[in-house]
Amino acid sequence: MDKVLITGGAGFIGSNFVLHMSRAYPSSRLVVLDKLTYAGNLENLKSLAEGKNYKFVKGDINDSALVDRLFAEESIDTVVNFAAESHVDRSILGPRDFVETNILGTFTLLEAARKHWLDAGRAEGKRFLHVSTDEVYGSLGATGLFTEETAYSPNSPYAASKASSDHLVRAYCHTYGLPAVTTNCSNNYGPYQFPEKLIPLMVINALKGKPLPVYGDGQNVRDWLFVEDHCRAIELVLKEGRLGETYNVGGRNEKKNIDIVKLICALVDERAQGDKELRNEFPFEGSRSSLIHFVKDRPGHDRRYAIDCTKMEKELGWTPGHLFEEGIRKTVNWYMDNRQWWERIISGQYTEYYSLQYGGRLAGQ
Ligand code: NAD
Ligand code: TYD
Repeated sequence: MDKVLITGGAGFIGSNFVLHMSRAYPSSRLVVLDKLTYAGNLENLKSLAEGKNYKFVKGDINDSALVDRLFAEESIDTVVNFAAESHVDRSILGPRDFVETNILGTFTLLEAARKHWLDAGRAEGKRFLHVSTDEVYGSLGATGLFTEETAYSPNSPYAASKASSDHLVRAYCHTYGLPAVTTNCSNNYGPYQFPEKLIPLMVINALKGKPLPVYGDGQNVRDWLFVEDHCRAIELVLKEGRLGETYNVGGRNEKKNIDIVKLICALVDERAQGDKELRNEFPFEGSRSSLIHFVKDRPGHDRRYAIDCTKMEKELGWTPGHLFEEGIRKTVNWYMDNRQWWERIISGQYTEYYSLQYGGRLAGQ
C-alpha cells in the first residue's frame, strides 16, 4: 500500500477513507481520482495538502487514457474503487449514469489493472479492492441475514449496476488472475454524507423545521454502520483479505427507518435545547417528531437488509466498533457543528439536479 489510487475519494465514504489512510499510513502516496459529480466535494479533503503524499486528480474513471497515465506515472500498487453513482432514488429516475460509471467505469479500471499489473508481469504485491454494497443481494423477509454465499438478486437499477461491477471483478480474478477482492457493505452513516440520503437529510430538515418524508410505512429495515468502522474494514481487507474473496461488512445493527427518524428528532431537540446559538437560529416549538410525514413509497423499495459479518470477524478480527447510539449522536453533532458544509450544498448548484415526484428530495427542499 505504498501508492494507492482511490477513486471517488471526494465522496462520502471515499473522503472518510482518504482521511483515515492519511492518518494511518503517513508515508503512503494517496492519489485520488474523482469526477466531482454533484456528490463529490473537495471541501471534504481540504485538510490535506497536495505534495509527496497526496494528489488530487479531477477526472472520470471511464477515461482510459487518464487511468492508464495514472497507473504508469504513479506506479500504482493498490486500487480502492469507491467511484460510483450511489443514490437509489436517482437510479430510478435516470439509470444511464449508473450503468456508465458503476459498470463501464469499473471495467475501465479493471482493464488498466490487467494491462499494468498482469500483462506487464508485475502483479506481485498488487491489490484491487472493489467497494460494493449489500443491496446486490436483494431484499430479506422478516428473518435471515445476507452471507457471502447469498445469491445475487438486485432490485433497483443502482443495485443491478453494482452487482454487474462485482461480477466483472470476480471474472477478472477467475479468468486473468487479477489480485482483487470485493467488500459488500451495509448502509453507512457519518460525517460528509451527501444530504439526499436518509440520515443527513433528516438531521438537516429536523433542525430547519422542514417536513421529514418517510417513504411508505417506515417499517423498512437497514443495517447501519458508522463510516469509520467501514474504513477500518477496508483497510483490513486490503492488508489481510484473501484474493478472489468477497467480504460482507455490516453493523449488526438493524433499525426501522421510522425509529431512526424519531431518534434523530429527539437528538436534534436535545442539542438545540442546550445550544443557545442553534435555538436562536432555528427556533422550534415542541418536538420535531411532529414534522414526520409518510409519503408515497419508493418504487420497488427493498424491505429489509441485514448483514452476517462473521467472516470479517473470524478471519480478520474486525468488529463494527461504534455502538449505534454513540455513532448517531456523533453524526448529529457533526452536522450541527458543520452547518457551512451542508448549507453550501443545499443552497447552491446541486438543487437543480434534484426534483423527485415521490417524496425524495434534497434536505431543505
Ligand atoms: P458518494 O455518492 O458520496 O460518492 C461517490 C463519489 O464518486 C463522488 O465523489 C463522485 O464525484 C465520484 N464519482 C462518481 N462518478 C465518477 C466517475 N465516473 N469517475 C470518477 N469519480 C466519480 O458515494 P458513497 O456513499 O461514498 O459510496 C462510495 C462507494 O461505496 C460506492 O461504490 C457505493 O456503491 C458503495 N457503498 C455505499 C454505501 C453507503 O451507505 N453510502 C454502502 C455500501 C457501499
Ligand atoms: P437511503 O439513505 O437512500 O439508502 P438506501 O436506499 O441505499 O438504503 O435510504 C435509506 C432508507 O430510508 C430506505 O429504506 C429509504 C428510506 N428513505 C426515506 O424513508 N425517506 C427519505 O427521504 C430517504 C432519502 C430515504
